[in-house]
Amino acid sequence: MEALTAHPTDALSGSLRVPGDKSISHRALMIAGLAVGESKIDGLLEGEDVLRTAAAMRALGSEIERGADGQWHARGRGPGGLVEPSAVLDLGNSGTGARLLMGLLASHPLTAVMTGDESLRARPMARAAEPLERMGARVIARDGGYMPLTVVGSADPLPIHYELPVPSAQVKSAVLLAGLNAPGTTTVVERAPTRDHTERMLSHFGARIGIAAAADGRRSISLAGQPELGARHIQVPADPSSAAFAAVAALILPGSRLRLEGVGVNPLRTGLYASLEEMGAGIVFENRREQSGEPVADLLVESAELQGIEVAADRAPSMIDEYPILAMAAACARGRTVMRGLGELRVKESDRLAALARGLAACGVQVEEGPDSLTVDGRGARPPGGATVAAQLDHRIAMAFLVLGLAAERPVTVDDAGPIATSYPGFQAQMSGLGARFAARRGGA
Ligand code: S3P
Repeated sequence: MEALTAHPTDALSGSLRVPGDKSISHRALMIAGLAVGESKIDGLLEGEDVLRTAAAMRALGSEIERGADGQWHARGRGPGGLVEPSAVLDLGNSGTGARLLMGLLASHPLTAVMTGDESLRARPMARAAEPLERMGARVIARDGGYMPLTVVGSADPLPIHYELPVPSAQVKSAVLLAGLNAPGTTTVVERAPTRDHTERMLSHFGARIGIAAAADGRRSISLAGQPELGARHIQVPADPSSAAFAAVAALILPGSRLRLEGVGVNPLRTGLYASLEEMGAGIVFENRREQSGEPVADLLVESAELQGIEVAADRAPSMIDEYPILAMAAACARGRTVMRGLGELRVKESDRLAALARGLAACGVQVEEGPDSLTVDGRGARPPGGATVAAQLDHRIAMAFLVLGLAAERPVTVDDAGPIATSYPGFQAQMSGLGARFAARRGGA
């Protein structure tokens, strides 16, 4: 364990490109690793989560290499071409890697054992197993649906019509990826739209995807099974969920001015930026463009006086990973921020609702945790800080509290900064380059 302390910092300035989008990187490796021919991937996130997915795809027979220039190359054998792995697939900390891979495995005639770290082994896998079993796979998990688990894939997978009981892009993606090797049309219906990177990337690789939006907000996504997936070039945008940490730090540190380059601005991911604007931020989106089927822009962020807001439950799917950092913005804002519809935060890398409430209270911030809501009272000034917060194997909890430490009166220590490398290797170096003050201490807090 390596503890990391964030010290009160005056202002951040400069420009940076945060690492590649985690969600898109997983999908790039899985879909390119299935497609016939050599795909090239630029800007892949080289974080631990994604490297686990690369290793798993190799174990399933895909050829995946990193070139000396940092470009990744992937070569597959088409849907149906994965081979049985000869060892356990260890997805580390990654729920996305685990659940999406379960989908791929489910429609191949093979048996694979999957596991992960202590955090992943406590996360619900039944939500992905349930539709995959309807498609003909068998998933044998620990009591309660936890990893380690075994997927016995089907030799004759069935296409299904599946209504998502939880708003989860991972479950939607698992079903669509399984549908790649099923005959006929696989359809997933979601009550509220979740990130659509799988749909976009499958279309980019030549699959036929149909999307129908109903007046009540439901979306139905259909995939024509057994498509020919050809090699493609993918440019992975910078991750908006990683950019969020520098963006909020710049907003809450007076005198800051930042430029964040090439950030993914898929509208199903930008709920945080909408919330920050409601709080009084004036974030400028410049050079809007498209890369490999995903919208991208450069973001200009300047410090601002933030006000508390009400964040309605229907915003949760578009900013589900950003509540930790929004809570830090709320702690520095003037007035009350209420965030609702946060039940899913309890089953992320940690119980994020509990972790946020506990950590904020330790930092002297007025906070109230509800069953699926969080209320934070900011005083429009630096919060007290001066605490050590447990990261609980959760990268976003660690980074969020380090950002709070930059803006607090007294330093904030995170007991274990190791998990940050799952999604944002270089966080400390990049933030320090902008002026953030950190000090590392070996051996834990
Ligand atoms: C992700 C979907 C979300 C998100 C996770 C990445 C994805 O999870 O929290 O970090 O890449 O599909 P859920 O599907 O559980 O909402």
